Amino acid sequence: MKNSYALITGASSGIGLEIAKNLAKRGYNLILTARRHDLLEKIAKEIKENNNVNVDLISKDLSNSNSPQEIFDFCNAKNYKVNFLVNNAGYGINTSFHETSVEAEEAFIRVLGTSVIILTKLFLPKMIENNEGKIMIVSSVASFAPPSSIQPLYGPIKTFMNRFSDSININYKHKGISSTSVCPGFTITGFHTASGVQEQMNRVPRFLVFTAKRIAEEGVEATLAGKSICIPTKTYKILVFLLNLLPQFLLSYAEDFFAPGRYKKY
Ligand SMILES: NC(=O)c1ccc[n+]([C@@H]2O[C@H](COP(=O)([O-])OP(=O)(O)OC[C@H]3O[C@@H](n4cnc5c(N)ncnc54)[C@H](OP(=O)(O)O)[C@@H]3O)[C@@H](O)[C@H]2O)c1
Repeated sequence: MKNSYALITGASSGIGLEIAKNLAKRGYNLILTARRHDLLEKIAKEIKENNNVNVDLISKDLSNSNSPQEIFDFCNAKNYKVNFLVNNAGYGINTSFHETSVEAEEAFIRVLGTSVIILTKLFLPKMIENNEGKIMIVSSVASFAPPSSIQPLYGPIKTFMNRFSDSININYKHKGISSTSVCPGFTITGFHTASGVQEQMNRVPRFLVFTAKRIAEEGVEATLAGKSICIPTKTYKILVFLLNLLPQFLLSYAEDFFAPGRYKKY
């Protein structure tokens, strides 16, 4: 595993940070990426001190269309063999659709969608050549739920990512590559503050809220096992089962209990 690396986007906080720590404990060398360079440096130093692995970092903004290629070029220049790709970076937009700028929506689609597709596209050929590759896409339980009013594109992009992940499995499983959509429910991270929805998050019933460490552990296990989908925790497995079963008009009665403020009408 000397030159084998796991590349993690959104590794400076929350679920991505816990995935990085989890993979380091399992002996993976890491390439961390996110925008906050200083934070990444601090995290890289800590992980190196606690584990016998190499950790490198590259700070990039994934809303910039050049970033996936620049991350790929960085790995190539250093001769890193990326056989575990974690597409995790993400955020939410807490503004109703008619008020957001076109630029803000485009950046959002780029970070949560386009960059995932391009990074996967860039790293896939080498994985095929080596006959091994694990891809994790951090999606969301929102991919199974009706789109919410405060972030109308969030759920649909995550649904798109689940289907993209399925298409990787259909086309490349026989080449030794698997892709896992990890679909967490409400998780304690920097997400809700960064997305301006911490107040709604505080009103979510506690039995629906889990730690990033738990999500990372279940997500990494599922990805290593080559599962196509992972819905961490029994609670959310049941909830997703119901979301798939019940008609949307029935779900609207329960939405304010399960996701307070998310279905406010504008
Ligand atoms: N928390 C939840 O309840 C929840 C539930 C379901 C799914 N998820 C998903 O889990 C994933 C991780 O989110 P989290 O909850 O761990 O949130 P978080 O703590 O806010 O972490 C988000 C990460 O994404 C990075 N990021 C954000 N915008 C970026 C950009 N433009 N370019 C590059 N990196 C960017 C952030 O780093 P920098 O700020 O340093 O760039 C940070 O490392 C997301 O895809 C999210 O949709 C979260």
